[in-house]
Amino acid sequence: MTQQPKHSLGLVAATALVTAFSATVALADSAGATFSDGDNFSEKTGQELYANVCQACHMDQGQGAVGAGKYPALAKNVNLEAGGYPVFVILHGLKGMPPVGKMMSDDQVAAVVNYVRTNFGNDYKDAVTAEDVAGSR
Ligand code: HEC
Repeated sequence: MTQQPKHSLGLVAATALVTAFSATVALADSAGATFSDGDNFSEKTGQELYANVCQACHMDQGQGAVGAGKYPALAKNVNLEAGGYPVFVILHGLKGMPPVGKMMSDDQVAAVVNYVRTNFGNDYKDAVTAEDVAGSR
């Protein structure tokens, strides 16, 4: 009988672990992303990466959304002027945004950053490089 509380505590801990794990998987699922290279996203071009990783939150035209949370517009966003800023946000996350760049290669992060900086009404032509990304990890 004295064992009973211990067992239920163990169960609570195990349930919490499973819940945390499904939350991670649900995030990847909701973004429609596919994994094939270990834990990394398999998409290569900035456009594919945007569509499969970012679009679920920032929407198809980068317009952002307000609902359960606030997802800022990337369209015509002057914060993208310094390429190092989106690189940093993608690698390290920012409050409600998870650090999705941890599941990307340096080339992938550079590709998706260059994509958003030259689309959706943004016209920043000084491309970031994989080396810039490596230096920001
Ligand atoms: C799970 C939802 C989610 C995903 C996926 C996501 N973001 Fe975000 N992003 C956010 C939220 C929320 C913020 C605002 C964080 C804050 O300031 O509170 C944000 C902020 C940003 C910012 C900073 C905007 C600014 O004006 O300061 C950039 C840049 C950005 N995201 C780019 C991306 C890119 C590129 C991707 C895909 C590689 C991506 N995000 C994927 C939710 C997401």
